[in-house]
Amino acid sequence: MLQKRILLIVGGGIAAYKACELVRLIRKAGADVTCVLTEGGAHFVTAMTLAALSENPVHTTLWDLKNEVEMGHIQLSRQADLVVVCPATADLMARMAAGIADDLATTLLLATDKPVLAVPAMNVRMWQHAATVRNVATLRTSGVTVLEPDVGAMACGEFGPGRLPEPEAVLAAMQAQLAPSPPASLPLPLAGRHVLVTAGPTHEPIDPVRYIANRSSGRQGFAIAGAAAAAGARVTLVAGPVTLPTPPGVTRVDVETAREMAAAVQAALPADVAVMVAAVADWRTADAPAHKLKKDGSGTPPPLALVENPDILATLCRDPRRPALVVGFAAETDDVIAHAVAKRARKGADWIVANDVSGDVMGGTANTVHIIDAAGVDSLPEMPKDAVAQAIVARIAATLAATITNGTPA
Ligand code: C5P
Repeated sequence: MLQKRILLIVGGGIAAYKACELVRLIRKAGADVTCVLTEGGAHFVTAMTLAALSENPVHTTLWDLKNEVEMGHIQLSRQADLVVVCPATADLMARMAAGIADDLATTLLLATDKPVLAVPAMNVRMWQHAATVRNVATLRTSGVTVLEPDVGAMACGEFGPGRLPEPEAVLAAMQAQLAPSPPASLPLPLAGRHVLVTAGPTHEPIDPVRYIANRSSGRQGFAIAGAAAAAGARVTLVAGPVTLPTPPGVTRVDVETAREMAAAVQAALPADVAVMVAAVADWRTADAPAHKLKKDGSGTPPPLALVENPDILATLCRDPRRPALVVGFAAETDDVIAHAVAKRARKGADWIVANDVSGDVMGGTANTVHIIDAAGVDSLPEMPKDAVAQAIVARIAATLAATITNGTPA
């Protein structure tokens, strides 16, 4: 981030206090930051605080003639390398999506020709409201990177998605956005390809408040989606319930249950490659009542009848629209390779990436994988999940390049 220039728009929400910490981190990373404080934002933090932390004047109004003469709001919006909206409130995102320019912040956002990163923070119901869902989709379609909020307890006392991601995570997203793109003369290895990735666990409801889940964090699948996008692919990431930010350039479809994931995978076809990393629940409850199950005082728990979920990977492998290359994952605790070889045949996948989850791989950041294909087993050393993702994406690119003419992967 050295010498990059950031324009930080601070919206009006309680999470605005975290913007102060973000300013400190941006300065520490060697970048210059100029803050714009909305009228709402000024109810939560002061221009003085942001000016002191950023060591730059803070802009608050469109009608400041002195600034207009010296700089002009158009110039202010364009001299930055990246525009960050943090916190991005529901109201601010609605006005951004509608193209309204009725204050300094929204005018700058409409005038800028630089990448925009929005970091939402709001009450869980406001985040899940159809209007906000629509506005976020509109913003993403028009090229704004909208981070996923964190899930947790909120200042208003409710629980769910809507918390501002921690400032360190926002800084990491900014760094990813500012990473130099490779020279245009080097064609990206997955340019023109559509890569479909599933990631995370699924939640199978027992009743309206309880569910069956597993320990998958989604990190490996998200890393693969990010690496495929960085390699130039159009990426659809079908994500189970996880709290990770969407990797830059990735189209994310959030689902909860295995059946929703199966439908989202079908809806995303056709694709050139499918990488099915999700830890899909094998079973769901036979029927989830609409009301919360209660103890009846008899001491006998209610029966929990399970039925099998669709096997998304096996179904995709039999589909007439089967992608040319289908990669499955196998999480095993014993006899890792033998089980994975059998799984490859049973499911009809081209490759199975097997990992030993007897340690703390699920939820952890490192992974040791074996890639099983028709030719045999390729065992990679233990490495961070990001590096595993890059290795898998490089292998995918090489395979597609080698089979471009006959369309049959090795
Ligand atoms: O059979 P198992 O769950 O171990 O297989 C793992 C692989 O199959 C993963 O690629 C996972 O995404 C996929 N899978 C699936 N649908 C299921 C179960 C697993 O797509 N119902």
